[in-house]
Amino acid sequence: MPLRFIHCSDIHLLDLKGAQLGQWLNKRLTGGVNLLLNRRRKHSHNLFDQIVVHAREYAVDRLVITGDLTNLALAPEFELVRSKLREVGLPVTVIPGNHDTYTRGAARSRRFETFLGEFMEGERDDADYPFVQRLGDVALIGVSTAIPSLPLVAVGEVGEEQLARLDRVLAQLAGEGLARVVLIHHPVLPGVAKPRHGLLDLEAFGKVIARHGAELILHGHEHRRIEGTLPGPSRPVPVHGVGSGTYLSQEPGKHGAFSLYTVEPRAITRVYHWWNGAAFAADPSAAY
Ligand SMILES: [Fe+2]
Repeated sequence: MPLRFIHCSDIHLLDLKGAQLGQWLNKRLTGGVNLLLNRRRKHSHNLFDQIVVHAREYAVDRLVITGDLTNLALAPEFELVRSKLREVGLPVTVIPGNHDTYTRGAARSRRFETFLGEFMEGERDDADYPFVQRLGDVALIGVSTAIPSLPLVAVGEVGEEQLARLDRVLAQLAGEGLARVVLIHHPVLPGVAKPRHGLLDLEAFGKVIARHGAELILHGHEHRRIEGTLPGPSRPVPVHGVGSGTYLSQEPGKHGAFSLYTVEPRAITRVYHWWNGAAFAADPSAAY
């Protein structure tokens, strides 16, 4: 049976109505207030709700979200995200993005994992990541690149230990003949992210993929559609970045977006959907 799922990313959910975010903001986060106000203008809950409506209409097996579900990784933000995800009514898989470990405190206390662990259940070694969700003939592999960084820096890192575990996991799942879908927040194609915005160990990640391959790599972070391939051991590995799921902009290429995937071991199809200002519409020119 193929796995049908919707991939979205960077939903940056925020509800300032009634949320007592003020008490969570301290001097270290003064820059965060501007970020929150800016986000509120640019991202809309309504778009996420529309994605959920599509997920139900398409009767997909799952909703997959590749990070940046919050803005400042504050506890009230995670509470909001968790309640929204529980209302989806379908299985949901998440991984963290850089905004989900915006502060050292959030990273140290494993706030993302504490609030959203129920959406990352799966097989794992002695660490949170990567986790593996076996879904029939498909394996979703959740990688974390989320590390706290200085203001205006949005880098990510997989880290040597996680890369070593990923190396083992990809080899094992290939041996079982499963379609391996790697979920990672930061783009993994060289030259895509600006300096101070990219994956610090992109080259080392590429080497693991070159050794073992994967059937598909999905990411977010850039708030635009990105397409390319990384070299694999026998064939190129497709890498797809999706725009932000909740972005209101009508700037070409940056519209709010989600992708509908059908994945089986020997075939992958995708229908890309753009927010056209009133609704999400399928874009036949972006079919895969
Ligand atoms: Fe990001």
